[in-house]
Amino acid sequence: MAYYGDEIIEEVRSRTDIVDLIGQYVHLQKKGVNYMGLCPFHSEKTGSFSVSPSKQMYHCFGCGKGGNVYTFLMEYENMTFTEAVQELAGRCGVELPKQEMTQEQRAAEGKRSKLLEINKEAATYFYTALRSKQGEKAFKYFEERQLSKETMQKFGLGYSLMTSDDLYKYLRNKGYSDDILKDSGLCTIDERRGGFDKFWNRAMFPIMDVNGKVVAFGGRVMGEGEPKYLNSPETMIFNKSRTLYGLYLAKKSRRKAIILCEGYMDVIALHQAGFDNAAASLGTAFTNGHASMLRRYTDEIYLCYDSDGAGVKAALRAIPILRQEGIPCKVINMRPAKDPDEFMKTLGPEEFEKRIAEAENSFLYTIRMMEADYDRKDPEQKTAFQMAIADKILEFEEEIERNNYLESIANIYNFSYDEMKRLVAKKAAKGGIIAHEERAALKSGMHSAAKKEDGMLKSERLLLTWLCEDPSIFKQVSELITPEDYTEGMNRKVASALYDQLQKNALNPAAIVNMFEEEEEQGMVARIFNTTVGEIESAQDREKALKETVLRVKKNAMEARRKSLDPADPNALMSVVEDKKKLQEMEKISFKLS
Ligand code: UTP
Ligand code: MN
Repeated sequence: MAYYGDEIIEEVRSRTDIVDLIGQYVHLQKKGVNYMGLCPFHSEKTGSFSVSPSKQMYHCFGCGKGGNVYTFLMEYENMTFTEAVQELAGRCGVELPKQEMTQEQRAAEGKRSKLLEINKEAATYFYTALRSKQGEKAFKYFEERQLSKETMQKFGLGYSLMTSDDLYKYLRNKGYSDDILKDSGLCTIDERRGGFDKFWNRAMFPIMDVNGKVVAFGGRVMGEGEPKYLNSPETMIFNKSRTLYGLYLAKKSRRKAIILCEGYMDVIALHQAGFDNAAASLGTAFTNGHASMLRRYTDEIYLCYDSDGAGVKAALRAIPILRQEGIPCKVINMRPAKDPDEFMKTLGPEEFEKRIAEAENSFLYTIRMMEADYDRKDPEQKTAFQMAIADKILEFEEEIERNNYLESIANIYNFSYDEMKRLVAKKAAKGGIIAHEERAALKSGMHSAAKKEDGMLKSERLLLTWLCEDPSIFKQVSELITPEDYTEGMNRKVASALYDQLQKNALNPAAIVNMFEEEEEQGMVARIFNTTVGEIESAQDREKALKETVLRVKKNAMEARRKSLDPADPNALMSVVEDKKKLQEMEKISFKLS
């Protein structure tokens, strides 16, 4: 990572405010000294994503992702470290020294850029194969599906050869190791039999991130066969719940909304028909990661899922997620066509334009789909339908919004508005709204990561968090606990860096993040500095808690030392005795907190 010097990296970082930066991607709300929001890296309904202005770090209590501004751009935007530095330097107006990257520096750029390189190589390889003699069959397949040459090129479509290891060999020849090829998801490595390709004899669809970089592939069997589509597994650069097929093209469209559909062929068919604002969530469930991604590029979504049962189900799932992210959405009726591909072939673009104009409000669509489950001529079922509507209405926070929808629904289904309103009010009073929020909190699994915690290591991390949040305790703590006393590797490294800063009176936790190259380690640093035991009110209790934590860390350090000693060594016994004495002394000490 030695492209730019540490000093300039630190200057750019310190000039960028993390709340400002992340606030452009995630809706953040101030909660105490930190900001909270829905985590963009995993699917959740209540926010466990925390951004600290004082530490200049973020951390998700749910999925454990975390780091500083650089880590965030690398994870969210799939940037390499160098790109993240360049991006932020541009934003805060720091001029970076101009230099060409040497071969060595390129090699040091890290795993992420290697994986991007490998995917790009593979895309070119598949692209060329499609246009070669061996690719004729695949080329015909695309032609039979009525894709123009121009469309094939625009989407970078390709073909993976019949041979089961040609891409593997090609990439090995380019100098990539088995290790990195395995992590790319494009090859599997068998200890005895060697390397194999994941994709063979398939029509290939490269998947691009929002910046147009190839991060994965989908491969379709030509004709019948299972599975119909094979997809790259998730990798360091491919996060399924944040990737939307075609979004990098859709975001450049002059149409103002985005059309959201189900898969590769839907997107391609729509683009070819002139609807260049189509994107798809690729068969996986639509997540709030997708929604927060979309929110950056549009403020209106047209849902264009298949008109079969599965498509309706998927649409009903996506609608509340979009609403939660604050994106209004309408549903396009494609009947009698099954999907956009078929629609374009049978009814054509002009008719589709009409369907866009007639698209249905997503809430009214939801209710209309529910209606099918009830026979409204039966009084009992009619009541059940009305109850179900009232429950749904309660999902709106604003009363005026609830009333407006009630009015429409009363009109459509010929119900009395006043009666429905009373029903909703009764349910709300019974705690319908609260119950809804509680349900979300239960489902979010916010505490799942924390639960698995090993108590000992947590004490070490707690002490590090404490030191970082209240440097006034450093002098006393450092006399008792040295960096060597932290038994876990990461904790020890972070402790030694933090102690160093505190000794120089230059606390800067976010800078510690950049001492680690791997994103996982950067996430760990953020986790270490975000360890909590909950609120402790009185100073006395806090002093007690601090003392207990220090003692626990020390005891654990001594225990670890004892275990590693050679029992035959006479000095070993001595040091154990000494440790015991030290501990007894420590138990008498009291901490004074300001
Ligand atoms: P569809 O079966 O509707 O695919 O699945 P499609 O895009 O319309 O493709 P064609 O027209 O049959 O060729 C929708 C999406 O679900 C994912 C793919 O992303 C697909 O585009 N999917 C489907 C898979 O990942 N694997 C499968 O086996 C099937
Ligand atoms: Mn389909």
